[in-house]
Amino acid sequence: DNGFYGRDILSVSQFDRAKLDYIFGVGEEMRMLVERFGSADLLQGKILANLFYEPSTRTSSSFMAAMLRLGGQVIPINNVQYSSVTKGESLPDTVRTLESYSDVIVIRHPEVGSAATAAHYASKPVINAGDGVGEHPTQALLDLFTVQEALGAIDGLKIAMVGDLKFGRTVHSLTKLLVNYGVEFVFVSPDILRMPKDVIDVVNSSGHSYVETEDVHDCIGDADVLYITRVQKERFTDLAEYEAVKDQYVVDPALMSKAKQRMIVMHPLPRVNEISYAIDNDPRAAYFDQMRNGMYIR
Ligand code: CP
Repeated sequence: DNGFYGRDILSVSQFDRAKLDYIFGVGEEMRMLVERFGSADLLQGKILANLFYEPSTRTSSSFMAAMLRLGGQVIPINNVQYSSVTKGESLPDTVRTLESYSDVIVIRHPEVGSAATAAHYASKPVINAGDGVGEHPTQALLDLFTVQEALGAIDGLKIAMVGDLKFGRTVHSLTKLLVNYGVEFVFVSPDILRMPKDVIDVVNSSGHSYVETEDVHDCIGDADVLYITRVQKERFTDLAEYEAVKDQYVVDPALMSKAKQRMIVMHPLPRVNEISYAIDNDPRAAYFDQMRNGMYIR
């Protein structure tokens, strides 16, 4: 038993280095399987319910693709407005309904803790695909897998997280996962979008050092990983605040000319203006690798 059979995946706090090594090994096997054979029948007869209360392209499609390539089937509920949620059906009842037809439920929902609520009511495993500004654990797994694949090791790296650190759930999960390794953190954000206290507490209690700054130039010269996020417009109550900070950080050729030759630029995507298209063919651009790796990890 690898410890995952029948288990919910709700938070990155469930993973230690041994479990991460195991997952990355399986991710590598899945990559080889897809490259050599395209598909397999490991999950033949199994059904995944994909329940998305918020928009998604990558997470939703990669869970579906992973299930289909392993021979399983998917119930896709990407437009909850066309489901009985619109008639007022609660999350517990929606989950109970879907588990009657499926073997595992993937859920994305705007409220922090919603995946845990779903898991409380479901007897089948629930996978958190993003709960509001809370966590996005499978994104953090694919992010870390991408770092390891690109740079060979995670220990010893300087990781700069840039942009909306307050509302960006991917940086919350990734930071909490990275404390399993010997890394240095630099958190780069406008003052109103600083990393939340609960994430800083995890960094502090794990004995890691970190620096906070508003200026990406403070770290561009020695960062091994530059992980930039979209400013999450949908989480702002005051749109004037969003407008004031939305274009504060842009990764463009001028910025990249100051970066090391051996480093990577990451972004969970979708991007708006944070990364210039001129960077897409730079060998240091890892954001398209991230989305491909999502399918193998999921
Ligand atoms: N990275 C990510 O979660 O992308 P989607 O919102 O497209 O799923």
